Amino acid sequence: APGAQRFIPPRADTIDELRTAAAACQGCELYRDASQTVFGRGGADARVVLVGEQPGDLEDQKGLPFVGPAGRVLRRAVDDAGLDPTRLYLTNTVKHFRFELRGRRRIHQTPDRVHITACRPWLVAEFARLRPEIVVALGATAAKALLGPAFRVTRQRGELLPWPASAQHPEDFTRVPVDSAGRVADAPPARLLATIHPSAVLRADNQEIAYQGLVADLTVAARALT
Ligand code: URA
Ligand code: SF4
Repeated sequence: APGAQRFIPPRADTIDELRTAAAACQGCELYRDASQTVFGRGGADARVVLVGEQPGDLEDQKGLPFVGPAGRVLRRAVDDAGLDPTRLYLTNTVKHFRFELRGRRRIHQTPDRVHITACRPWLVAEFARLRPEIVVALGATAAKALLGPAFRVTRQRGELLPWPASAQHPEDFTRVPVDSAGRVADAPPARLLATIHPSAVLRADNQEIAYQGLVADLTVAARALT
């Protein structure tokens, strides 16, 4: 069967175990041309998960999410919004770089529904291990992956939303997380918030206004933390 699910070890309890397994994923065609899987990064105690689209050229080379120009915008916005960067986890909807070769240049291509669907089990597995308080979808690809294809970031950005029932696939949250003392460490499902992608700030006619909008939305997330 296509998709990432069969590459996820059922007993992978930690993000590091997931990352190791994801390095060998062949759940869709994108692994063929990209350099490597770019898995999420951040502490296991993250309270907020930020979900981008897919790794860019630089991320593909370095193997880390958000290390390029969009990452610089994002880090500054996180800071200005008052989110604690040490309690953040950064990841992407699709874990391999999709591009088209033009001469020697690798031109970013938006992932298709098939790639988003194929890669979704990794995202679900990350949520299930981290159990964050808030998930922020950065841009349309992440928002559609989490909230469905009809979701419009332009109309519903900056709103704290309940965790969508459609995302509560049986495998999402049925695993009972246990803390180091063996106690059941249960947590309510995360809330969700969508905003623009930091690379949209870089493409905007008025970058300052676009940037302030991103900061305002992230501030809603920061204030919602208990
Ligand atoms: N854009 C993304 O969506 N993710 C990255 O990791 C880098 C750029
Ligand atoms: Fe696997 Fe996702 Fe990479 Fe496709 S994009 S090969 S599903 S990790």
